[in-house]
Amino acid sequence: MNTIMTTALVLSVTAIFFALVLTLSNRYIANYGKVKVTINKQSPYVVDGGLTLVEALQESGITVPTTCGGRGTCGLCKVKVINGAEGLLAVEKATLGNDVLAEGYRLACQLKVTGDITVELPDATLAVDKYDCIVDKCLTVSGNTRLIRLLLPENNSFQFTPGQHIQFFAPVYPENDTEVIRNYSIASGSVDKRVIELMVRKNSEGKCSTYIHDYLREGDGVAISGPYGKFTYEEDDMPLLLIAVDAGIAALYAMLNHIEETGSRRKVTLLYFGTTEKDLFQEELFQPFDGLNVTITQKMTLSSEVNEFGIIDDEFEATFERLVQENESLEIYICGRKETAGELRKFILKQGVPVDRVHYQQI
Ligand code: FES
Repeated sequence: MNTIMTTALVLSVTAIFFALVLTLSNRYIANYGKVKVTINKQSPYVVDGGLTLVEALQESGITVPTTCGGRGTCGLCKVKVINGAEGLLAVEKATLGNDVLAEGYRLACQLKVTGDITVELPDATLAVDKYDCIVDKCLTVSGNTRLIRLLLPENNSFQFTPGQHIQFFAPVYPENDTEVIRNYSIASGSVDKRVIELMVRKNSEGKCSTYIHDYLREGDGVAISGPYGKFTYEEDDMPLLLIAVDAGIAALYAMLNHIEETGSRRKVTLLYFGTTEKDLFQEELFQPFDGLNVTITQKMTLSSEVNEFGIIDDEFEATFERLVQENESLEIYICGRKETAGELRKFILKQGVPVDRVHYQQI
């Protein structure tokens, strides 16, 4: 018995040792030389072999979205590879699933470029740019939310549609020794093309939100890239129902700003659900919309669940039924935590609202 256990132990240690040697040699010794990255059949960029596809695209001036910081879990960095991709990794299978993989997509943060590669990128990704901004203002707007106003350098302009988001690059700071990148919805309207406002909810575990809440000061320089996302406001006269949960408020606040800036008389109902008292906003945040046809309700749910103790309770159902009765048609935008936004969407679709009138974003 002892001999079997000793043999198993020796084999495991040997396997771990060789895996480690392989990883280190791949990283530090392997020399893949220069490789070509061809994007959308254009002239190729030449980069160092051995980079991940995210890094190779960055070298080519293209930023792909991410929220997981390259851990392979968010799936946002997926890129369609036409040829030149290495074998699949288990993490790609787990995150993308077989259907997406069958279409040729790979996780750019995981795929190592060891030879020439050809990829296809959507126009929206190619339109993304990186900007160095100055922090113009930092305001506390709720017990745990900070609104920061970023100013682009003169002669720069940032085009986006309300509902979209940016990536924020938080630098190294005393409690964190690597750069972190996080997505934040843009909260400002889109008329002033030099200003980008973000509403950042503090997450005690969050390295980027900790940086923004505890370290960022007016006058600091920060980098962002964008715009990203398909959750976008559509111009129309149809009455609007906006449903936001916690940090989901930012994208919908951008839509309210846009309505105010464009002088729209569109009828809007905003239902905002915050998990705790700290999530409820100061009234001043909504004052700019006082003269508009906008009704705003804030409610504390005390739970992150969508059930009778959370959002979809008798009161919510009655409000929703009244809105459907009062308005012949209704366009609905939902933005909130993953499960919450999904459950709200399911509930609304069950009530017979056409699927193309329900836009939703999980954050
Ligand atoms: S960056 Fe998140 S999966 Fe690649």
